[in-house]
Amino acid sequence: MQVKPMRANPGGEIEAGNVVGRDRLIKEIWNALHVQSVVMVAERRIGKTTVVKKMRSGPPAGLRLIYNDVEGLSTPLEFVEAVARDVESLLPAVRQAGSKFRRMLGHLGGIEIGGVLKLPPQMSPNWKDLLRATVEDLLDHCPDSFHVFVWDEIPLMLDKIRSSAGEQVAMDVLDVLRGLRQKHSRLRMIYTGSIGLHHVLSGLREAGHANAPTNDMRTIEVTPLDRDDGRMLAQALLLGEELQCSEPEETADATAEEVDDIPYYIHQVVARMRAVGNEASAALARSIVRKALVDAQDTWNLAHYRDRLDGRYGPDRLTLVLAVLDAVGAAGEPLAFDDLGHRVRSTVPREKAGSDFVRDVIDGDDEKLRKLLTSLERDHYLCRDPHTGHYRFRFSLIQRWWNMKRGGA
Ligand SMILES: Nc1ncnc2c1ncn2[C@@H]1O[C@H](COP(=O)(O)OP(=O)(O)OP(=O)(O)O)[C@@H](O)[C@H]1O
Ligand SMILES: [Mg+2]
Repeated sequence: MQVKPMRANPGGEIEAGNVVGRDRLIKEIWNALHVQSVVMVAERRIGKTTVVKKMRSGPPAGLRLIYNDVEGLSTPLEFVEAVARDVESLLPAVRQAGSKFRRMLGHLGGIEIGGVLKLPPQMSPNWKDLLRATVEDLLDHCPDSFHVFVWDEIPLMLDKIRSSAGEQVAMDVLDVLRGLRQKHSRLRMIYTGSIGLHHVLSGLREAGHANAPTNDMRTIEVTPLDRDDGRMLAQALLLGEELQCSEPEETADATAEEVDDIPYYIHQVVARMRAVGNEASAALARSIVRKALVDAQDTWNLAHYRDRLDGRYGPDRLTLVLAVLDAVGAAGEPLAFDDLGHRVRSTVPREKAGSDFVRDVIDGDDEKLRKLLTSLERDHYLCRDPHTGHYRFRFSLIQRWWNMKRGGA
């Protein structure tokens, strides 16, 4: 296939026509959307938003995608406001025609500033009705198409709602959305996010709220690029940056392989090649990756793989999480559960356990350890060999970084 040259742009907007690969994944998502809504899970920076943007450039006939990055929102009312703005910008007629939402707003005293919809805080108690009204307006006015709301980074919004208003309110948002999905057969949603909902809602689940607010949705993981696509992206970037290269195939191969075919890091490697000279080679790719793993400026933003653990696992489980990742990182091969348990128990002294959870695991509670490992799998740190069930790091790049950072390499 002809490779189209592309400039390296790590973390930047990628035009739909420049998105490499993802066709199989996108087909899988469209297929799922025929029947149900989708949770797209993935590690940070793996390319979720880029996938959604490519989807937006060519949805199948009869299907409309409505995208919003909701990461910055922190109350249910702000969320309703964002959804209503999206609906009204799509369908100005809804606004003029005296929609359910606008009628409700009239009663409640909603305002518009400079033509922009603004819901004042006193409407907070009505957020559920307002949300239902605006979504139903859309469906009522467009009876012939399917509507897919894409809420990018919705777990981050829910986390903020949880912090400001409590976990029950975060759960209410998901419950109302689930209710809407169940009521309307032409409504679909895509939730994307790099923190799993299991973190946002863990407290509630432990408190016995059994209703799973997303168990009607299909979970689809965004993985790194396929091998061939990783190589093709590297080739496109090497060409786009006009780097001289005596062995282009070997160089593209090494560039993609060194970073586990994660497109963001492929862009980073090539951007760095351009920054240091005019030439590219496999050896240079390897050397750039080695340096990035110990870069004090952390230009690849790797520190978050460690930093985010504090918030996600809290002081009562953190010691154990670090011990697990240290053990798996240092091992030369995937570890069996018993072996991993033994290594972890021998490194965390009981008197330093610091919490009942850690103490229980040290005292032999395998169930708790398994639960923790499952959480680390869902967070994309670990994965299991499909044949043996043994544990290893999900990405070799992150394992290498972890070992350097934690002094085990
Ligand atoms: N399919 C692709 N083709 C080319 N470049 C890509 C592709 N996917 C991702 N990238 C590169 O990786 C970067 C990160 O991608 P993207 O923003 O889609 O990831 P994300 O998973 O949404 O990240 P975040 O967790 O920060 O929201 C992009 O800016 C781009 O440089
Ligand atoms: Mg994103």
